[in-house]
Amino acid sequence: TIPELAPDAFLRWRESGAETVDLLAQARRLGPVSAFRIGERPVVLATGPQAVQEVLARCPERYVKRSHRARVLLGDGLLAAAGEQWRRQRRVLQPHFTGRAVHHYEQLMHDCAEETARRWAATAARKTPRRLDADLQHYSLDVIWRAATGRPLDDATHRALRVASDVLAALPALAPANSPQPDLTAQVDEVDAIVEPLIAAARTDPAPGLLRVLFDSADQQPLYTDRLIRDELVTLLTAGYETTATTLGWLFLLLHQHPEQRTWALAAGPAGSPARTEAIRALVSETLRLYPTAWLLPRYAAEDGTLGGHRVLAGTTILICPYLTHRDPDIWPEPDRFLPQRFLDPHRRTPPGAYYPFGIGPRACLGAQFAVREITILLERLLPAFTAAFPDIPGQRFGVTIQPDRELTATITTTT
Ligand code: HEM
Repeated sequence: TIPELAPDAFLRWRESGAETVDLLAQARRLGPVSAFRIGERPVVLATGPQAVQEVLARCPERYVKRSHRARVLLGDGLLAAAGEQWRRQRRVLQPHFTGRAVHHYEQLMHDCAEETARRWAATAARKTPRRLDADLQHYSLDVIWRAATGRPLDDATHRALRVASDVLAALPALAPANSPQPDLTAQVDEVDAIVEPLIAAARTDPAPGLLRVLFDSADQQPLYTDRLIRDELVTLLTAGYETTATTLGWLFLLLHQHPEQRTWALAAGPAGSPARTEAIRALVSETLRLYPTAWLLPRYAAEDGTLGGHRVLAGTTILICPYLTHRDPDIWPEPDRFLPQRFLDPHRRTPPGAYYPFGIGPRACLGAQFAVREITILLERLLPAFTAAFPDIPGQRFGVTIQPDRELTATITTTT
């Protein structure tokens, strides 16, 4: 049997008001596969690389996604879809997110980065603090919005889509099966009030972009109905926005705490050189190791089977937690330190299933290369020109993503 926490562990954790990750960290101490109960419901936590591989990559038919709660907003979009329907949707979108396809978005990413740099330059001249989280959200939303619709982001759309990510953030990471669902109808209506007229207008004269990909697909095969186009657009916008913005926020915080790493990355080579890009990517990889923003990946056992030699019955919830795997001292030396150079070490041996900020297997992130590219492009523009100083360092809040527990306000200084 799987080593399991005491039956009252969940209740005691709930009463203590501690973060979800604290309960999971307790279970992890029992082994690479461990368990606890939410009421009568068994929950299995897999953090060891082999078990992670088994659940996400080797047996995706046995351990399936059941995104009930996210469906309120995302409907049958790629993130929440299942089975043959999911496979067909993924086939339509995948070719537009390969490394090569992502080149097509680079110009719009540069344009958005330039706009952020202009805002920062204006603030630096005035020496007033900025809401860095708002800037980074604006950047990542502008990028995915332009990639989807071919137009720059306007304020009304920005506001409505912030509502959308608040809808997702309001969903608890772990809840008893019978806990009441928050009523989010009003917020979902607000999102639809922006997205539906846009789809209707774009249909007659679509600009090049992901929305046009969906229209073209609908012309060729009976897959993308009007409703599914709405779901897919909202999925791409929400999946592609908060995670990227939050990653950037953690990265600027880490660089504030470790200014020598910014110096190191810039010294790796001149602007535009492959050596500098590689160093900046190492900053990104190490940030995603410490703060894999999608930190908890739930699955559901569709049939009986074994996991890491233990019996797992159909109906069990399986939690995969990149946050805990990425901080396992048996895999990562000095796991809590920010050491980007570890990603450039030619002797590094990380087993499969030890590093997966974008998930692994068939349900891995569609936008992984897109995200890394947009983050790198922004950093290549901002790091040489500015530093961001934070008056106080936030803690971590574990919701659907790992967020800083307060606003990110920073003073921007131009470097000469
Ligand atoms: C799925 C992380 C950016 C679109 C996922 C998954 C993870 C993830 C871990 C897998 C979830 C699971 O296995 O349950 C991230 C992180 C990002 C990021 C950390 C930024 C740093 C993006 C972007 C887009 C995107 C920019 C779109 C342009 C998606 C979609 C899925 C997904 C559509 C669902 C794929 C499927 O089920 O077939 N993401 N993501 N993500 N991501 Fe991302």
